[in-house]
Amino acid sequence: MTDLNPVRVGICGLGTVGSGTFNVLKRNAEVIAARAGCQIVVEQIGARRDNANCPTGDVDITRDVFAVAENPNIQILVELIGGTTTARELVLRAINNGKHVVTANKALIAQYGNEIFAAAEKRGVSVAFEAAVAGGIPVIKAIREGLAANRIEWLAGIINGTSNFILTEMREKKRPFADVLKEAQALGYAEADPTFDVEGIDASHKLMILASIAFGIPLQFDKVYTEGITRIAPIDVEYAEQLGYRIKSLGIASRVEKGIELRVHPTLIPEKRLIANVNGVMNAVLVKGDAMGPTLYYGPGAGSEPTASSVIADIVDVARTLNADPKHRVPYLAFQQNSLSDVPVLSIDDVVSSYYLRISAHDKPGVLSRVAQILSDLGISIEALIQKEPAPNQDHVPVIILTNRTQERLIDSAIAQIEALDSIDGAVVRIRVESLAG
Ligand code: HSE
Repeated sequence: MTDLNPVRVGICGLGTVGSGTFNVLKRNAEVIAARAGCQIVVEQIGARRDNANCPTGDVDITRDVFAVAENPNIQILVELIGGTTTARELVLRAINNGKHVVTANKALIAQYGNEIFAAAEKRGVSVAFEAAVAGGIPVIKAIREGLAANRIEWLAGIINGTSNFILTEMREKKRPFADVLKEAQALGYAEADPTFDVEGIDASHKLMILASIAFGIPLQFDKVYTEGITRIAPIDVEYAEQLGYRIKSLGIASRVEKGIELRVHPTLIPEKRLIANVNGVMNAVLVKGDAMGPTLYYGPGAGSEPTASSVIADIVDVARTLNADPKHRVPYLAFQQNSLSDVPVLSIDDVVSSYYLRISAHDKPGVLSRVAQILSDLGISIEALIQKEPAPNQDHVPVIILTNRTQERLIDSAIAQIEALDSIDGAVVRIRVESLAG
């Protein structure tokens, strides 16, 4: 039985996610009401322009999103405009007016979440953001609620669909980078500014949110080490494959003795891992809890209706607890606000990883032994070494080295010394390697 009183929502933004949210709310109104215990009614939409994919019928549309935050009939404001300037003002305005907020905005939560949650706590309202990470996959709920018994040891995720789409097409179809990016933009996967995707910034926003929920740390986006996929050469994709690895853009958060590693970068992972076989725009997050062991969450990480699925799940959650005492609601970042931890986020210099190095060496005796000596002097072991045939009319040969686990500052020193050798040409290519063993 559903409550006679409907819950009234205002949707701000009618782009890819906003139109998906409106359409799914309408199409599945009955089943959603049966789950929420009340009808969910779209009272008003705030959007700069109409969307041909989204016939809104007689719903009131305003061009001024702030009118939605001021509308006294609206209980839940759904922020889907993106960006962090107007969106931040809009969300804070809605909270100050006593409205609950559902958002898909990862940049907003990663950068201004601490401020937003403090304001929401003061006003006793909910802020829900499942759609901010990994699109349609309910991974926030899984970590925040499903894994509440566990100490999370680490998590690693493919959390940018656009980068994964590009790396997959480069490997499977040998397509050029720019072409694939254009396709991802046309399909509505890419961010308004696609450098957010290919430079790893979007994944860093999402990683910060996941890490906060996993480890109970405040949001501190500026501490995430971020490296994009723009420097990945097709040849490295090919060599990785020959060595039994795939290159994926991973977000990694790991609790180690001295603190927390937070890093987004291209990573070689063994091809036999399930997560190495997550292709195209799909996302996956691998989470290792001490009690549960490893679990993998997989699904569409972007797109209109998959992301809408998460937005609406949040609306249903908020609708169910609308009249509950705030202390009976699930905490914003999984841990109670007064139980957040001050464990430090480590600098990339302190991170420990294995490494893939590609070196262009003169084809003459003694070069490899000098490289091996530099690594050995720093205590870095070589796990595998391959010297390729020189290309026709070339006096340089590609040498690929896989190292054992070592500290980033040591590999930096090794690379500097290797690059200084006369017999080495150009920069050493370095890609981190993770086994992701459960
Ligand atoms: N641009 C993002 C991606 C969209 O490619 O994953 C979903 O957050």
